[in-house]
Amino acid sequence: MQLNTKLNASITAVGGYVPEHRLLNKNLEQIVDTNDEWIQSRTGIKERRILKDPSKATSFLAIQASKNLISKNNIDPLTIDMVIVATTTPDMQIAATAAYVASEIGSYNAFGYDLQAACSGFLFAMSMASGKIESGRYKKVLVVGADKMSSVIDYKDRSTCILFGDGAGAVLFESNNEGLGWQDEYFKSNGDGRESLNVKAGGSLFPATSTTISNRDHYLRQDGRKVFKTAVSAMSDASSTILKRNNLVGEDIDYLVAHQANERIIESIAKRMSLKPSKVLKNIAKYGNTTAATIPLLLYDFQNKFKRGNKIIFAAFGGGFTWGAAYYIWSK
Ligand code: ACO
Repeated sequence: MQLNTKLNASITAVGGYVPEHRLLNKNLEQIVDTNDEWIQSRTGIKERRILKDPSKATSFLAIQASKNLISKNNIDPLTIDMVIVATTTPDMQIAATAAYVASEIGSYNAFGYDLQAACSGFLFAMSMASGKIESGRYKKVLVVGADKMSSVIDYKDRSTCILFGDGAGAVLFESNNEGLGWQDEYFKSNGDGRESLNVKAGGSLFPATSTTISNRDHYLRQDGRKVFKTAVSAMSDASSTILKRNNLVGEDIDYLVAHQANERIIESIAKRMSLKPSKVLKNIAKYGNTTAATIPLLLYDFQNKFKRGNKIIFAAFGGGFTWGAAYYIWSK
């Protein structure tokens, strides 16, 4: 085999974790004015996982997913150079969750930082990790996507509380000199979108006050229809740009690994890419939208399906707005 002088970054290990507690559609029927039929037909979601213990936060989910990856793949945590945690629900302001995760998993030689791009966070973090590996300066980069969405969800708002769940997934990036792994990416953002999807208070624009609390401004709010339409067109455009740029058509692609926000969004993108349903990976029915964790949880759940050389398109859309697509060739 001819070896490339250029280093690619490839995923060499995958881990995942979801909390035990299942919040079923029928449980939500007891809390807000909704029903199982509406939720399933409009979103494809049957249940989501919730981290009930109030003393545990996003770092707990991230640590469990990372430990799962480390133990299943016999990784020495001291060999990890860098830890990126993609999250929109960090444990605290200021203190990077990734620094805590790195210490708790025993990666004392690593440095860690958080990346916040809402539901696009994990996609963007994979790109950051790939760049670090391609530079040759770092050998092992752990990328975690973790969110305790239940900490920012208003369980009185039926239009959002049905959508989200808690979870985490992790991947390890290492170098590959056979041309496999991360190939290309097309990422975008548009700040006008922040009016349509946000947690208004708690940042520097609206610091916490008794008024922000009484207005319930610390919960996620969105214009669901606008987010839906923009997500479909943005992810479809980004995916078709990536296909064209790499001389690919839908038939060449083995799997679409797309952010799990709504089954109808995923199916619309797949249709626009002319993908057969068997190529479209989905686990939204079990977990709902876990924000930064959806893509790594798909990789975790379907890892036994992937074969060396499989061509994968990653696509995501999230708050900001932020979105993009990437082309990846499986290397394991
Ligand atoms: N149960 C029953 N009825 C409901 C519910 C519910 N849980 N939620 C809303 N409705 C009602 C509405 O009030 C409305 O009633 P009306 O016609 O009497 O006014 C009706 O259902 C239709 O409402 P729509 O908002 O048009 O419903 P839609 O088909 O668009 O589905 C949904 C709503 C599921 C929120 C959809 O718009 C969606 O998934 N949008 C994308 C949201 C998303 O994915 N956000 C996060 C992505 S980015 C990130 O995660 C950071």
